[in-house]
Amino acid sequence: MTESRNPMPTSGIAAPRTPVPVPAPAAPIGVSVPNVTVRGPEVPRNIEALDPVFTVSGLSVFYGDYEAVRGVDMTIGNREITAMIGPSGCGKSTVLRCFNRMNDLIPGARAAGKILYHDEDLYGEHVDPIEVRRRIGMVFQKPNPFPKSIYDNIAYGPRVNGVKGRMDDIVEEALTKAALWDEVKDKIKQNALSLSGGQQQRLCIARAIAVKPDVILMDEPCSALDPIATTKIEDLMQELSRDYTIVIVTHNMQQAARVSDRTAFFTAEVDHAGVRHGRLVEFDETSRIFTNPSDKRTEDYITGRFG
Ligand SMILES: Nc1ncnc2c1ncn2[C@@H]1O[C@H](COP(=O)(O)OP(=O)(O)O)[C@@H](O)[C@H]1O
Ligand SMILES: [Mg+2]
Repeated sequence: MTESRNPMPTSGIAAPRTPVPVPAPAAPIGVSVPNVTVRGPEVPRNIEALDPVFTVSGLSVFYGDYEAVRGVDMTIGNREITAMIGPSGCGKSTVLRCFNRMNDLIPGARAAGKILYHDEDLYGEHVDPIEVRRRIGMVFQKPNPFPKSIYDNIAYGPRVNGVKGRMDDIVEEALTKAALWDEVKDKIKQNALSLSGGQQQRLCIARAIAVKPDVILMDEPCSALDPIATTKIEDLMQELSRDYTIVIVTHNMQQAARVSDRTAFFTAEVDHAGVRHGRLVEFDETSRIFTNPSDKRTEDYITGRFG
């Protein structure tokens, strides 16, 4: 995978995004989720107009013989926030890990089907998974800073990648983008583990940003955080989506409604042999998923009748 075959998107400025209240659905089949403000672009984007970063078709993921997720088709739009929601065990993390080939690191894990990344086969023979993981960063549920200084946490990736340039500037820029600089600029040499949980998570986001990724994957990034720290991360995600494509797994539906442009709802289904498989039920603009989903299972989930 080379720069020229996979140019980083550089042009265009994301449309300003402010949360817009979604009108109550007109038709009786519409679903009303009380007190949910669905975020959306000021000019509603047409799903047909989606500018794909990933195009997933017929994706199934196996752990050994067990097919954990079956037949997923979805598209991740450039500089959008895509949320993956659904009950525990339905395969959200499994699918997320396919986007940067992290499942490759799990013995016995195997993906079948196709994922195109900027029109290139992400699992193609000549694709370097290490480079994939630089371009497509990951932030986990539990903040996992290295037991090193704040500075060294950020500088680590650029150093490993042989980045030239003033490291002080690189560190400051990443921390600024992650909305952490003002809080840490006077203690940059302190151990990162001395930071609060929310700060540690923003540090992990800064660490992901420091290697100049294209996409940031987040697996329940707020579930270990208090509400104030959660709000900061959500605000940060909105800010970052001007420059990066973000995919977030969350079991917090309100969070998906607040931050994402599009939502994928997964569930687990039991087949005729009694085996559970994760399935993508519905993928659509977030405002639609939360006000007028087309599948009864989505409706049951978002209205709390299930899960
Ligand atoms: N490393 C693994 N080895 C074997 N099975 C796994 C592994 N990770 C996840 N699974 C199984 O795959 C299914 C989907 O899991 P996961 O993707 O973690 O779901 P979710 O993130 O939606 O909670 C579950 O049945 C889970 O037990
Ligand atoms: Mg998970």
